[in-house]
Amino acid sequence: MQENKIKNKTILITGGAGFIGSHLASELIGFDPKKIIILDNLIRGTKENMKKFMNNPLVEFVQGDIIDFDLTDRLIKESDYIFHLSALRINACTEDLTYSFNSMVKAIFELAESAVRNDVKKIIFSSSASVYGLAQNFPTPESDNPYNNTTFYGAAKLWGEQILRSYKNLFGLDYTALRYFNVYGPGMDATGKYTEVMIRWLDSIRNNTNPVIHGDGSTTMDFVYISDVVKANIAALNYDVSDMIFNIGSGKETSLKELLNLMLKVNNCDLKPHFADSNNYNPVSRRLADISLANKHLNFSPDVSLEEGLKKTSEWYFETKQENKK
Ligand SMILES: NC(=O)c1ccc[n+]([C@@H]2O[C@H](COP(=O)([O-])OP(=O)(O)OC[C@H]3O[C@@H](n4cnc5c(N)ncnc54)[C@H](O)[C@@H]3O)[C@@H](O)[C@H]2O)c1
Repeated sequence: MQENKIKNKTILITGGAGFIGSHLASELIGFDPKKIIILDNLIRGTKENMKKFMNNPLVEFVQGDIIDFDLTDRLIKESDYIFHLSALRINACTEDLTYSFNSMVKAIFELAESAVRNDVKKIIFSSSASVYGLAQNFPTPESDNPYNNTTFYGAAKLWGEQILRSYKNLFGLDYTALRYFNVYGPGMDATGKYTEVMIRWLDSIRNNTNPVIHGDGSTTMDFVYISDVVKANIAALNYDVSDMIFNIGSGKETSLKELLNLMLKVNNCDLKPHFADSNNYNPVSRRLADISLANKHLNFSPDVSLEEGLKKTSEWYFETKQENKK
């Protein structure tokens, strides 16, 4: 059984106005915390994402940048636990490398320093499957080596994992890192290069135009539904595990062709795919998580099937589009 360590505690969520962070904040309220502090600069997150809980007296939203280290330190001083989710998207990282360094690399050093100074009980760090680049083994275990990663984003995530590891070793600071695979669901990013394929296809279904598959559709991903990712975060806080890194995926590999077929099926749609040239956005042709470690230590197994998740995501997207029209 999972203990509730969140009760009467102050929880800081960096990046809490974003896709995953806002779902996490919403779920945490049910665990009876003393306070939830959200730090977000709204570079990508929105007040709309937080509208379900913005007026809840348990929640304090602070609009600010994590690189304002005095501010971050002040918030950490008040906090028992930290979920560190703030990050730039993979492509945005290369637009301003100095800012990326400060907000993705230096920030986690400052965060760890402050956490030690202020006796934070645990940091739950949002890492990414990007640390693997194209993995060597499928399903990919956490021990797969990270040397195929070629991105700044993946490098920053790996640094985050490693600095936390060293702070555990140096100062006993507890942490758990979660390497998410392809997270999707209501509120997901509609513009990101990896996930946008779902959104583009939903637009095709809505507009009754043939959905486009770039390349032959054989690229695979491991899609994990948002509520399962939130569940993993809460388990990572509540279980007595530290100094461990877990893959968080579905443990199922889905090709883009299969994804489209399922998406058409759940929307009762008989449009036919149109194959176009590969747009080469994604240098990684395969993703499949080995989730046995998370299962063993966090009792993690996904609850939401891809079919069910796609149904919910489609409903959300069509409703949002409808509302925007009003
Ligand atoms: N969505 C995925 O598929 C996925 C996969 C792997 C890892 N992740 C990681 O999970 C975490 C959450 O991802 P998400 O999908 O919710 O992304 P998101 O972009 O929706 O959320 C990130 C949030 O961080 C905020 N932010 C960015 N830089 C900041 C800064 N310097 N100071 C304060 N706030 C800042 C943004 O405004 C945004 O609200 C990120 O660390 C991301 O790298 C996500």
